Amino acid sequence: MTAWTEGKLIAKKHWNDTLFSLHIEASVPAFEAGQFTKIALDIEDKRVGRPYSFVNAPHEGALEFYVVKVPEGELTPKLLALEVGESIWVQTRPVGFFVLSEVPEGKTLWMLASGTALGVFLSILKTTTPWQRFENIVLCHAVRQSESLSHHDLIGQFKTQYPNQFQFVPFVSREESPGAFAGRITTALENGSLEKHTGLTISSEDTQVMICGNPEMVKESMQVLQSKGLKKHTRKEAGHITIENYWK
Ligand SMILES: Cc1cc2nc3c(=O)[nH]c(=O)nc-3n(C[C@H](O)[C@H](O)[C@H](O)COP(=O)(O)OP(=O)(O)OC[C@H]3O[C@@H](n4cnc5c(N)ncnc54)[C@H](O)[C@@H]3O)c2cc1C
Ligand SMILES: NC(=O)c1ccc[n+]([C@@H]2O[C@H](COP(=O)([O-])OP(=O)(O)OC[C@H]3O[C@@H](n4cnc5c(N)ncnc54)[C@H](OP(=O)(O)O)[C@@H]3O)[C@@H](O)[C@H]2O)c1
Repeated sequence: MTAWTEGKLIAKKHWNDTLFSLHIEASVPAFEAGQFTKIALDIEDKRVGRPYSFVNAPHEGALEFYVVKVPEGELTPKLLALEVGESIWVQTRPVGFFVLSEVPEGKTLWMLASGTALGVFLSILKTTTPWQRFENIVLCHAVRQSESLSHHDLIGQFKTQYPNQFQFVPFVSREESPGAFAGRITTALENGSLEKHTGLTISSEDTQVMICGNPEMVKESMQVLQSKGLKKHTRKEAGHITIENYWK
């Protein structure tokens, strides 16, 4: 039985026509950065809930969820239409294993995100743990068009705060975008251009990779990394690749 608490939308940030952040006031129990909960609306007498990763860090007061409108989706068009001051249901049990306490030690942490999966990494990066544990952190964000790149200020703060430890690599696949990698993460992993660009090597010796978002991107990125000798991490057998899919 899902337990819900009633939250209130306190702010909504539109990144473009389809991408938005919901800032919600709601009381949820302690969680670990990287976890998710469900948010829901009552639509025609039915509670429609879906999982969303926290973008806020556990220590931050208000909750943030970073959402893309799926045009034919049941919930996201209604979330986009929600107005500040309106109520929204939040599940009171944060869950998930896409967290640093599940990731083995390493020297370099690669974070590979497509679309709104950027958010889960921002939550993790807002905590002190990754900066204490890893010598180098590379955040890759893959989008179709440059207008879907978001959270520029926060990413800029990480760059300023950790200039020798942090690199952000945007990927824009469907248009020319100065300053971004053209094409897909998988291509840049495969042909070595991502390693060349960052000056960091992907090796089973000292690399940990977290991948989140589009399941095809997750699967194909993992395949490329496996061809380089990295292994999927499980609780039974320590490896190098930790994944989360946003849909099937
Ligand atoms: C663990 C977990 C965490 C998630 N966190 C987020 C999050 O932080 N932000 C977020 O936007 N979504 C997230 N999702 C996806 C989210 O739960 C919903 O599936 C999504 O918002 C669509 O809901 P809907 O009812 O509008 O569409 P539905 O009617 O449920 O249609 C689902 C279809 O929409 C497409 N789709 C779903 N999610 C996405 C997406 N993020 N980007 C592009 N296409 C998508 C897929 O084709 C999928 O089959 C997460 C999913 C999981 C499993
Ligand atoms: N029509 C569809 O088939 C379809 C599929 C998914 C999402 N959507 C809708 O499109 C909107 C925006 O989605 P989005 O841009 O956040 O998601 P997305 O389609 O996952 O695209 C994000 C990035 O991931 C890349 N990518 C996709 N598949 C990959 C793979 N197998 N390997 C490596 N990289 C891959 C994309 O590259 P490319 O540009 O090269 O694909 C793009 O750069 C949403 O409304 C969603 O519902 C539509």
